[in-house]
Formats: sequence, C-alpha cells, structure tokens
Amino acid sequence: MVKFVICGGGNGAHCYAGIASSQPGVDARVLTLYADEAERWTNSMKTNDFVVTQTMENKSVVTLKTKPTIVTKDPAQAAPGADIFVFMMPAFAHQQYLLALKEHVKPGAILVGLPGQAGFEFEVRKHWGDLAKQCTLVNFESLPWACRLTKFGETAEVIGTKTSLMGAIFPGTVPPSGDATAMLQSTLGPHPQLIVKGHLLAMTLMGVNAYIHPSIMYGVWSTWDGNPLDEAPLFYQGMTELGCATLDGCSNEILATAKSITQQRPNVDLSSVIHIYDWYIRCYAKDMADTSNLYNAIRTNGAYKGLKHPCKQNDAGKYLPDFAYRYMTEDMPCGLVVMKGIALVAGVPTPTMDKVIEWAQSKMGAEYLVNGQLSGKDVAKSRSPQAYGIQDLDTMLGLK
Ligand code: NAI
Repeated sequence: MVKFVICGGGNGAHCYAGIASSQPGVDARVLTLYADEAERWTNSMKTNDFVVTQTMENKSVVTLKTKPTIVTKDPAQAAPGADIFVFMMPAFAHQQYLLALKEHVKPGAILVGLPGQAGFEFEVRKHWGDLAKQCTLVNFESLPWACRLTKFGETAEVIGTKTSLMGAIFPGTVPPSGDATAMLQSTLGPHPQLIVKGHLLAMTLMGVNAYIHPSIMYGVWSTWDGNPLDEAPLFYQGMTELGCATLDGCSNEILATAKSITQQRPNVDLSSVIHIYDWYIRCYAKDMADTSNLYNAIRTNGAYKGLKHPCKQNDAGKYLPDFAYRYMTEDMPCGLVVMKGIALVAGVPTPTMDKVIEWAQSKMGAEYLVNGQLSGKDVAKSRSPQAYGIQDLDTMLGLK
C-alpha cells in the first residue's frame, strides 16, 4: 500500500485526489491548509459523491467516483505513516506547508513538487535543514494534466492527460520505503509516464513558464505606445518577432548555464535541459499546424487558441496591460530571477534575461537586478539562490 499525502486544495489537488483514490494499493490523503477548504471539502463529501472526469492521453474519457481517505488541515492527521508528500499548489504556498509538515515528516520520506517550480529545493532546504538531507526530493516540470475544479469538494475535470512528464530526483541520506518513481506512478495510473532522471536543478531550469510568459509580455509591451487598446492582444497566437527572439535568447542562456555547470561539475546530469523549441516539439507537436520554427510553432499551437494577454479595462472599456498578473508577479520572483541567480553562480552572462528582468521590474515596481547583480531590495522575496545566501556551485547543487 502506497500511503501518500496530496498537499493543496485547488484544481490539481482535486483531480489527483480522485485519480489516486481510484488506483489499486493507494491510500490517498489530502492536506489543505488554506482557509476553510478542508472543512468545506469534507462536508461536501458527507452528502455528495466525489467525481473526477478524466480525458486520458488517448482522448478516451473516464469517470472516477472515489473519495480520498481523509481531507484535513491538520498535518498530524494527514502525515502518520505516509511515504510520500506531494506539493500540488502555487509556489508561493510552499513555505506554509513546509513549516506545518516539518515536525510530522520522518527521515526517509519522499517530498515531491508536482510541479515544484524554480527554486523548489532551495526552499525545502531552507525550511527543513537536516531533514531535507534525510528525505528524497523529487521535482517535475509541470502538472500531469491540464485540469480544473468545477465544483469545490465535489467535481473536477482533467481536460488533457500528458503522455509523459519529466522529473528529477535527489536521493536522501535515509533511503525511502520503496522506489520513488514507481510509487508515484502507481498513484497516477499509466499516464503520464514519469521519466525521472538527472539533477534537480534541471527542473528549475526547465520551469519554462518563467521565460515564456515574460518574454512574450516583453515582445508586446516593451514597445507599446501607451495608448489603450480596443482588444486584449492574443498571447501565444499574437506573439511578436521580438517576443520570439527574446524567448530564444533566454532559452539559449539557460542552455549555456547548464553547459557551464556540467563542465565545472561533470558528475551533475543536466541533460534534461533542452532548448524551448525542442521542449515545444516534445510537448505539443501534435497540436501545432506548423512546426517549422519556434515562431510558427507557438503561433499555431491549437492548445493555446484564444488565450489573451492579461489586461485591465479602463472606464472607457479599453484595454491596458496588467503587470500585476502572475505572468509577472510569480514568473519573475519564482522563475526568471531564479534562473538569473543560477547563471550568476555559474558565471554565465545573460544579456537577454537581464534586459527582460530590468524591464519587468520597472513595470512591476520591484527591484531585483542592480548593475548586473541580484542585490535589489526584493531579491529576498524571490527563490533565487542569492535569496538563500547561496553563492557557490556546490551549495547550490546540494553537494555540501
Ligand atoms: P490552483 O490555482 O488551483 O491553486 C489554488 C489553491 O492553492 C487553493 O485552492 C489553495 O489550496 C491554495 N492557495 C491559494 N492561495 C493560498 C494562500 N494564500 N495560502 C495557501 N494556499 C493557498 O493551482 P492548480 O491549478 O492546482 O496548479 C498547481 C500548480 O500547477 C501551479 O503552480 C500551476 O501554475 C501549475 N499548473 C497548473 C495547470 C492546470 O491545468 N491547473 C497546468 C500546468 C501547471
């Protein structure tokens, strides 16, 4: 029996609760600390079925009607005997869960970010100290599905199941109760197929939203004349050539960073770090009308159809960019700024990332980059290595 705790209470946690409870040999528990979510979810399950509809990777649709063993906000109820803790929530909520769980997690446990997003391991090591070393850490590039909660505590929908999902693992000094990847796979069913290899830092560097979103924003709004628009521009379908060149530039700098780290520490496997074009082809080729280059691939990706730039309407009903949206407020501190920080530790110049960060921070009213260094007043609120006082490669890689 795999005993595991899904941490979070949103779209992903709902779907995972239904999917995992339906798998044989799995005891799925939910820990949600946010507001009254645990109470609402528990009360709903007293009188209603809990139903998850899943579109599988082959497009067939299954309806799962099972309930997690428990939904609670009390770590002391969720944690006993658990082999695995899966974080499935926005990155800003990690700290709260790490602090709440610390005294309930035993050495040898497996902690999974699904996805953990950039800097996941830095955050875990900060809050768990020695316990982090004794636990196995796993991070994945994304959520296993595109999904949404349709009625809180009652129904949720998996719109698409990924075929495969890349992850990385950092073994703890205390061995886990079983093979981490096999146990996790047993909670998901056959898809997505989990491919777990290489160093955790590769997952941080492949947190691709961190460079996709700000680059596309930069492509449209850095040259904007300031006049309100009649419509919010299409985000992916309307990506500009400048946005595409910026994304390509950031991606090349990420690759250069991985290459430099591997040259300096040949035992560190960062082979999962690939160019954004190759990533798109791996994840979305069948949804794209034209895969001839990055620009056409993104602009013709059917999975992105109709998505627009985050905008606010003014009193006249016209559109202005919303720089307080998560494409900036999350994807900078928990994304691009982390990658810049890693490049700094590795000693790799990043002119494109610098340009985007300098522009974005001016629009957000934040300060990360000052004269090429991460010394701005808001660095401490980011998940960059510098925010944790990490200045050298071995500490960053968890090797000392
Ligand atoms: P979500 O947006 O549904 O998360 C909301 C949940 O986060 C809330 O229900 C609550 O449990 C928690 N939360 C919200 N505010 C909080 C606060 N102030 N303090 C503590 N907890 C709080 O997240 P979702 O959709 O499940 O996604 C999880 C992660 O996966 C995110 O990083 C998301 O970007 C990523 N992702 C989501 C996809 C999707 O289809 N939903 C697809 C790919 C990635």
